[in-house]
Amino acid sequence: MKIYLRTYGCQMNERDSENIAAEFAERGHDIVSDDAVADIIVVNTCSVREQAEQKAIGKLGHVLARRNARRASLPIIGVTGCMAQNRGGQLMRTLPGIDFILGARKTHMVPEIALKMYARRLGGMCHPKPPRLLRDDPESADTYLDISDDLQSHRYINRHLLADTSQTCAYISIMQGCQMNCSYCIVPKTRGIQRSRPPEEILEEAAKLVDSGTKEITLLGQVANAYGRDIGLGGDAFVGLLRSLDKLDGLERIRFTSPHPSFFTPQLTGAYAELRTLCEYVHLPLQSGSDRILKLMRRPYTASKFLEIVSRLREAKPNISISTDIIVGYPGERDEDFECTKEIFEKSGFDMAYIFKYSPRKGTLSAELPDDVPDSVKEGRNAELLDLLAKQSMEYNLRLVDTEQEILVESCAKRNPDAIMGRTRTHRKVFFKSSKNLAELRGKLIGVKIKSATVAALEGYFYDPEPRL
Ligand code: 5AD
Ligand code: SF4
Repeated sequence: MKIYLRTYGCQMNERDSENIAAEFAERGHDIVSDDAVADIIVVNTCSVREQAEQKAIGKLGHVLARRNARRASLPIIGVTGCMAQNRGGQLMRTLPGIDFILGARKTHMVPEIALKMYARRLGGMCHPKPPRLLRDDPESADTYLDISDDLQSHRYINRHLLADTSQTCAYISIMQGCQMNCSYCIVPKTRGIQRSRPPEEILEEAAKLVDSGTKEITLLGQVANAYGRDIGLGGDAFVGLLRSLDKLDGLERIRFTSPHPSFFTPQLTGAYAELRTLCEYVHLPLQSGSDRILKLMRRPYTASKFLEIVSRLREAKPNISISTDIIVGYPGERDEDFECTKEIFEKSGFDMAYIFKYSPRKGTLSAELPDDVPDSVKEGRNAELLDLLAKQSMEYNLRLVDTEQEILVESCAKRNPDAIMGRTRTHRKVFFKSSKNLAELRGKLIGVKIKSATVAALEGYFYDPEPRL
């Protein structure tokens, strides 16, 4: 059978989709990249912002309309992820043709239910009817579940089976859910409270990946640096986990996303100086540079505490790249609050950032407040920060021109199959040409001389005759 999977939102969702793809594949089905030929279509959704929801609704509308036009009962069309959890009932009413809706913590059930539905459609009504809508209680503290640590599940990137069995860069999910209650955020509602995975399990999964050729691991968690606190491992559990992973022979790089400033301890900043594999890159969400707004957002730190973390990080690794998330136009955000955000943005020297216009999410605390910053003001603040970001990224990238950078080779460039793409330890994309082909270089660490820079990427040439690994 042909299975099409579409994923919106964060890396967590990407990782969940890898698991879904692996489950289908284990049962002998093919993952396809064209929804028009699929027998089963699964949309894995995100609820963090209105725009992400609209995209998923658009996609579902499109596949449903095509099926209606054919007056067919196939393909089976299902929804999972945060929106399925949060707005499942509403989706059922507004898009009545959807076959199943499985909440964010029920993604592991997607293959089983989708296949049962498919059999029932084909074989008439003799098969038992599977449930159409399944959600879960986000308050329940059930142990970490749904994670297949099967290596097979890592063979899918963006739901496409890799040509070979190794994945140069892999994600490992270290926890699920979030115990913070940021006023604007729907995640604790959709993904439930924090449940960390036992460290042994994570280490075992990492070791298997490294054995199969993985060089870089990104640890995923909503508040990655609060890892282990919920299972009694204490405040240093995350650094402990990094230390254990650092000892894995053959592992070259570790990244993680996303940490929370409140748990960014001196031990963690110290780890950047101490650990061989910990890359000089951190995504550290600021959200706002105004203490007043941070308080309203229920983010328990101040702008000066944030700057202190940044300076500790720069002390540990002067060339560290720091990226962030910012929300503009939170209810009640005044010009002077936004000025504070700009100030901290500059002082932190972010060279990458995701800037979001505030979007009220039903069920969150801030959704009760009037969304009182006009869209034109949100737009203006967004544009101002984007300009600042372009300037800061360009400055950061220009500093790398004429230097040699260590690149981990990942793939060919999407828009230019002749060019090869790899990343620096600081997560910068580098495009380069080489007399060697991708198959020879993928998964290798090589020295690339940078010859030019744009805001988004670097270009270089490969002059190291022998890869170092
Ligand atoms: N409106 C706008 N941005 C949001 N984010 C989370 N919730 C909202 C919202 N309601 C942003 C935050 C978070 C990122 C993943 O999405 O910046 O860090
Ligand atoms: Fe949402 Fe805050 Fe948890 Fe991040 S830390 S997932 S923004 S509630």
